Amino acid sequence: MKIETRQEFPNFVGFVSGVDLKKELNDELVKKIDEAINKLSVLVFRNQNINDNEQVRFTKYFGKIEASGNKSNITKAKDRRLSTDLADVSNLDKNNKPFTINDPRRIFNLGNRLWHTDSSFKKIPAKYSLLSARNVSKEGGNTEFADMREAYDCLDDNTKLKIKNMICEHSLIYSRQRLGFDMTRELSSEEIKNFIPVEQPLVRKNNFTQRKTIFLSSHIGKIKDWIRPDSMCFIDDLIEYATQTKFKYIHKWSQNDLIIWDNRQTMHRARAFDDLKESRDMRRTTVLGEEQLI
Ligand code: OGA
Ligand code: MN
Repeated sequence: MKIETRQEFPNFVGFVSGVDLKKELNDELVKKIDEAINKLSVLVFRNQNINDNEQVRFTKYFGKIEASGNKSNITKAKDRRLSTDLADVSNLDKNNKPFTINDPRRIFNLGNRLWHTDSSFKKIPAKYSLLSARNVSKEGGNTEFADMREAYDCLDDNTKLKIKNMICEHSLIYSRQRLGFDMTRELSSEEIKNFIPVEQPLVRKNNFTQRKTIFLSSHIGKIKDWIRPDSMCFIDDLIEYATQTKFKYIHKWSQNDLIIWDNRQTMHRARAFDDLKESRDMRRTTVLGEEQLI
């Protein structure tokens, strides 16, 4: 296995070659990949023509799978295209047809266009995400990643002090509200209970590298002990700061690329494409986090 980095960004994004994810991997190789994720946050594997089972097997080398279900999506079990081991990040329905413009599932999925970390709205947020490109759009549809450790390091001392013990409330309701999509109207009062906000600290540390990181996400709708409008202004400023070009990697997908990212120390977002016409079949597996943070 070889991992290359870009000259100006030795600590962010590695390009991995010499690994075939259709095959089983030995413990030593898995350990090396795991260490590289901790150090580089994003790993890009090209030309991995894997199926769902192979993706799931590779994911399980790094921990337990976070199931995709009614706590992370509004798609009903009977309408799922993929098994619950995979999050369906495509724009396709069960018959592999693009969602139509007003389909609530399409509108819900548009939330991925906002900067976020996966499952920060769960008590135990996600550790790694693995996204496999089975079919890519001809134009657009890039994914962008931002390095929250570098963003933390570059903060001024006053802001570091200000956010030191800050606690934020995260919910899918908040991120979808930003799109004008009111989940409280779409879902029953029973279903909405799956999306009650959870509290997360704004600053986290990676125990392996000891680097601090800003745990930001568009799922944040409130800072504890602040009113909502002030919270939104503060968080939006911080997201704007933390996603500047100098902290960002833009990935232009080719079919059969697989990317692993570390949700504890990055944010990401999907970019627009002609989703009413083109198919973009992206499948995500997610490694469950190891701890509840507060
Ligand atoms: C995800 C996600 C972005 C994309 O899979 O969690 O946000 O570009 N995907 O599809
Ligand atoms: Mn995501």
